[in-house]
Amino acid sequence: MEIVILQGPESVGELVAEAIVDQVRRRHHAVLGLATGSSPLPAYRSLVARHRAGEVSFEHVSAVLLDEYVGLQPDHPQAYRQVIRRELVDQVDLPLEHLHSPAVHSGDIPNACRAYEELIASLGGVDLQLLGIGADGHLGFNEPISSLRSRTRIKTLTDRTRADNARFFASGEEVPRHVVTQGLGTILEARHLVLIATGEAKAAPVAAAVEGPLASRCPASVLQLHPHVTVVLDEEAAGRLELADYYRETWRHKPAWQHL
Ligand code: F6R
Repeated sequence: MEIVILQGPESVGELVAEAIVDQVRRRHHAVLGLATGSSPLPAYRSLVARHRAGEVSFEHVSAVLLDEYVGLQPDHPQAYRQVIRRELVDQVDLPLEHLHSPAVHSGDIPNACRAYEELIASLGGVDLQLLGIGADGHLGFNEPISSLRSRTRIKTLTDRTRADNARFFASGEEVPRHVVTQGLGTILEARHLVLIATGEAKAAPVAAAVEGPLASRCPASVLQLHPHVTVVLDEEAAGRLELADYYRETWRHKPAWQHL
């Protein structure tokens, strides 16, 4: 696992955008796994700017969402498919038919979950998966004690997660209780995992995920099982890491030929 500690959210976003551009340049038909929430927004802004500057095209790229709320109308502004369209897809040249999300309105959630797994497999798997982390250690919306080998399925959000996400809704009551999320086992199959965390509220879950025991109590600790993980943090989110100096030293002396 590589831990990169940068000054603030904008530098984090720039580095992550650079990694995505690098991935798309190496593989024009890249499959990107996209997260929502606040953490990836600076990276999406940077990708839009880089696209406008002619630095990158997403014409052949496919995108799969990490998760989607259950119970919102498809055109609800907080439905994750709408969020990702607004923040990224509609602002670049990624064709809308290349944007995939779980079919939460199909009336048969278990079947929609199976179909989503099959879809990801049919695309050849995810090349680079963006991730955020919840204050309770969730990854995707795999809340505490999710099976470390779980697949795409419906999950119930914790009160903490619903309270954290209430800022996107008019009232806390409006936050859906259920989501469909890629499972931890599904996420682990992506070839490169990039976790973004910024701000002091993420310091404890980041420390638990990176330096704590591998345990379903902190679902994000499952990252420890993956051979290619990059954790990009700002100083505040790195605030509780015991080995922060070692990570900084490693980053400073990273061989120039080595990709993220
Ligand atoms: C969103 C997702 C969640 C968020 C996490 C952090 O698609 O899967 O795991 O990444 O809740 O959210 P923010 O970035 O808003 O703090």
